[in-house]
Amino acid sequence: MARIPQPNIAILGSLNIDLIARVDHLPARGETVSASGVEKRFGGKGANQALAAARQGAQVTLIGCLGDDPDGRDYRNHLRREGVNCSSLNTVRGGTGTAFISVDALGENQIVVVLGANAALTEPAVKMQRARIAVAKLLLLQLEIPLESAVDAIRIANEARVPVILNASPIRADFPWGEVTIDVLILNEPETIAVFGSADPEEWKERLSGKRVHHLITTRGGRSTLVISKTSIHEVPAHPVTPVDTVGAGDTFAGVFVAHYAEGTAIEEAVRWANTAAAMSTLKPGGQEGVPRRGDVQSTLTIAANAA
Ligand code: RIB
Repeated sequence: MARIPQPNIAILGSLNIDLIARVDHLPARGETVSASGVEKRFGGKGANQALAAARQGAQVTLIGCLGDDPDGRDYRNHLRREGVNCSSLNTVRGGTGTAFISVDALGENQIVVVLGANAALTEPAVKMQRARIAVAKLLLLQLEIPLESAVDAIRIANEARVPVILNASPIRADFPWGEVTIDVLILNEPETIAVFGSADPEEWKERLSGKRVHHLITTRGGRSTLVISKTSIHEVPAHPVTPVDTVGAGDTFAGVFVAHYAEGTAIEEAVRWANTAAAMSTLKPGGQEGVPRRGDVQSTLTIAANAA
């Protein structure tokens, strides 16, 4: 049977080469710790989310910048093999973005990012992508790129009435909340507390309108995910696992969520897929290696439903 064509999702964001060191514990300020070796993997929040959405069968166009180094060339080939449309990926002079990541024995991490080519995703570069954003079913973006460029892309989407899904990570204190419209805001719990200035979900709900956010999704690690709109707070259970590596779990969540939401799936159901996929992604090292395909998430959801 012919597959129904999937809606096109525009994803704007970063691409990094991740250099990952495994350590017993994460270094405290001023502390030096030893690692057994270093692994080199594809990463960056934008590309991780694009790959996660593509593995759910979504048609994804990634807007971003790679360096003109061998890493940039390899990365483009890798994303093409994953079925991501790379026609809006610019190659710029200099090095591809790099992330230095430490992962401890419990799978927790610390990350330092060198923007590299991602810094070339400037406002003019985003304006060149106006038509691409305007025809998309949804725009998904994060904040690991210049802030003005992210805000500009949101304005373009707002003007074109393209719903915006913002994963506001890493959190930026200078984001102009209330000046642009966001359909779905995805944050983890510490980020939500920072943005809303409160640890109380009832207050998050009351403050949504002032920030021009329609829905807030707050992930809480191993605990249920909260889905909050102006009139309701729903909990979607987490999928229990013992993680090996949580790098990129939030990116898998955002990419898988957006793939299902773009198909017209109800927000809580799309979060159920995203929760399960994000948990599954932590069972393998690296930001992309553990990202599950649609059929594997479906099987896991079915097994969980039968066991309930
Ligand atoms: O969210 C995980 C990602 O953050 C890593 O792949 C790393 O590149 C950093 O951008």
